[in-house]
Amino acid sequence: MEIVICSTPEEAGEVAAARVAQVVKEAGPRAVLGVATGSSPLALYEGLTRRVEEGTLDLSEASAFALDEYVGLPAGDPNSYAATIDKTVTVPLKMNPANVHVPDGAAEDLKQACEDYEAAIKAAGGVDVQILGIGSNGHIGFNEPSSSLASRTRIKTLNERTREDNARYFASIDDVPRHCLTQGLGTIMDARAVVLVAQGEGKADAVAALAEGPVSTMCPGSILQMHRTVTVVVDEAAASKLKLREYYDVTYEHKPEWQEFDA
Ligand code: PGA
Repeated sequence: MEIVICSTPEEAGEVAAARVAQVVKEAGPRAVLGVATGSSPLALYEGLTRRVEEGTLDLSEASAFALDEYVGLPAGDPNSYAATIDKTVTVPLKMNPANVHVPDGAAEDLKQACEDYEAAIKAAGGVDVQILGIGSNGHIGFNEPSSSLASRTRIKTLNERTREDNARYFASIDDVPRHCLTQGLGTIMDARAVVLVAQGEGKADAVAALAEGPVSTMCPGSILQMHRTVTVVVDEAAASKLKLREYYDVTYEHKPEWQEFDA
């Protein structure tokens, strides 16, 4: 796991965008991105948007797969992840909407929708680079603590901490859905590269558990320790509980260029 500690959230976004852009270029015009909602990747998306506007990155033929979607929101609800991905990814990155996929949380047969989603990722050739945030409870996607480390896309119940964390987007916590569809940890682990971003003190425990704790279902993000190509980009506050932080700083200093990286 490569851990990059940046002085500000903005710098973290830019470093993460540079890493994603590098992998996308290596993958070619039909690159497949794994995309996440939430506030964590917004600065990263801004960095990618700048590259698209400057003409140094072209995602017009690329595709994207979102991690998750709420179950039970009305079609077109602005809090749906389909709407969020459209606003934060598809439109600013000038992607073809037909190539941007979100699990269908409104499907009549949710189990079938999960199987279809796995099949669609496979048919696209798999994800080249998965963008992730991490929940304050260590979740990635909506894989809450106790999720199977080998799980695939499925229906999950959101835990109360996640519903509280996400209530800021809704009129009240009662409006936050209780269920979701989410890629599994096994699905996420199939991505060829992973870039995880976290900012702020509220993520410090989760980041420490992710990077330095045991691989455990109690911190679902810790499964990334078993992935060969993961870059974790954090600001100072999110890094504040890392025990080996001096070591990470030194390794980054000696690897200033985004070169081929083998964790
Ligand atoms: P956040 O959410 O980026 O809004 O903090 C991250 C997550 O819950 O995975």
